[in-house]
Amino acid sequence: MTQSSEIAGKANFDHIRYAQLWEDADVLCAALPQDPDKTLVSICSAGDNALAMLTLDPARVVVVDLSPAQIACLRLRIGAYRALSQPEFLELMGSRPSTRRGALLDRAIAEIDSETRLFWQDQRDDVIAYGAGGVGKFERYFRIFRTKLLPLVHSRKTIDDIFVPRPKAERQKFLDQRFNTWRWRLLLNLFFSRFMMGRMGRDKAFFDHVQGSVAQHVARRIKHAAVDCDPSQNPYLYWIMKGKHGDAVPMPWRAEHYTTIRDRLDRLDIRQGALEAFIDDGDKADGFNLSDIFEYMSPNIFAQVYGQILSAANPKARLVYWNMMAQRRVPPAFTDQMTTLTENEIRLKAKDKAFFYSDFVIEEFQG
Ligand SMILES: C[S@@+](CC[C@H](N)C(=O)[O-])C[C@H]1O[C@@H](n2cnc3c(N)ncnc32)[C@H](O)[C@@H]1O
Repeated sequence: MTQSSEIAGKANFDHIRYAQLWEDADVLCAALPQDPDKTLVSICSAGDNALAMLTLDPARVVVVDLSPAQIACLRLRIGAYRALSQPEFLELMGSRPSTRRGALLDRAIAEIDSETRLFWQDQRDDVIAYGAGGVGKFERYFRIFRTKLLPLVHSRKTIDDIFVPRPKAERQKFLDQRFNTWRWRLLLNLFFSRFMMGRMGRDKAFFDHVQGSVAQHVARRIKHAAVDCDPSQNPYLYWIMKGKHGDAVPMPWRAEHYTTIRDRLDRLDIRQGALEAFIDDGDKADGFNLSDIFEYMSPNIFAQVYGQILSAANPKARLVYWNMMAQRRVPPAFTDQMTTLTENEIRLKAKDKAFFYSDFVIEEFQG
């Protein structure tokens, strides 16, 4: 059985799972080859990181995803970059409060294909309420956390205070003295139990290969996001805690990249289907954003898919991916063909604002 059929057979892909990308585009782009005119490949998810990769000035970005709903997230963004200004884009996505999201949505979908337009018209009420970046299953999970549970544990003032800029030592003090209370620890253990994550956030099938407690993992990662990194610069943490963005927004949504991305939208080559389909085409690429897809595979399938990717890689191609809890790195059969870019990994891991992931991997193909 191939990896795609392995996962597609278990999980349900008929709705939006991720309405925005919960992987840090800044570290992704810093990890990929920096020369222009490369062919890059990206897992789509909500599309934001494929858009971010356009800032690297590639010849093209091939974007793949098994899920039509995830591809629809990218197509909405393409319409929005073309039809809206950057401040309007932020309103549509939910980064900023808005009283005109319905009208912004209408403009963003006016020129896109009719199937995608209908798909988004169906989501209109939710887009108006939460922003287009808030309508996925994963974001709904955070919304329940934020609106129903977080108020039982922390006051609004404490939540706001997380995002006040302060030196690292003060951040540790804030975490120890004001944030990490017994109520908070209880909430983490309940909410991030495997049962709840499977029910409300991630499909239970995705935990088949994961070891350890999700709550312990989350507690470690919160220290990374709240102390080691600066929370005032972290759009991912801000959205989880407040359901919108503050001054910091994900890299492809920032004003300084908006026109560059808009001017290069034609370089996206979108393909609904498995990553393996790109590979079978005989195309070769120089950089792969593989999200955290390997985590969802059994070790054997992982090794098989890894080999397939190398067959579609040019010399010096980089494979970039995250792990949340399952450990995935170059399988033994391919170690002599790959160089792990450890220094880059360490440098970028320290900056990774998307704090769910325990590992960030950059491997270079020797060809
Ligand atoms: C692996 S999930 C992880 C999402 C991510 N953590 C985020 O923040 O958005 C990302 C996407 O990968 C897609 N996917 C998983 N395996 C795939 C494969 N073999 N080929 C293409 N897409 C795949 C899923 O449909 C999903 O939309």
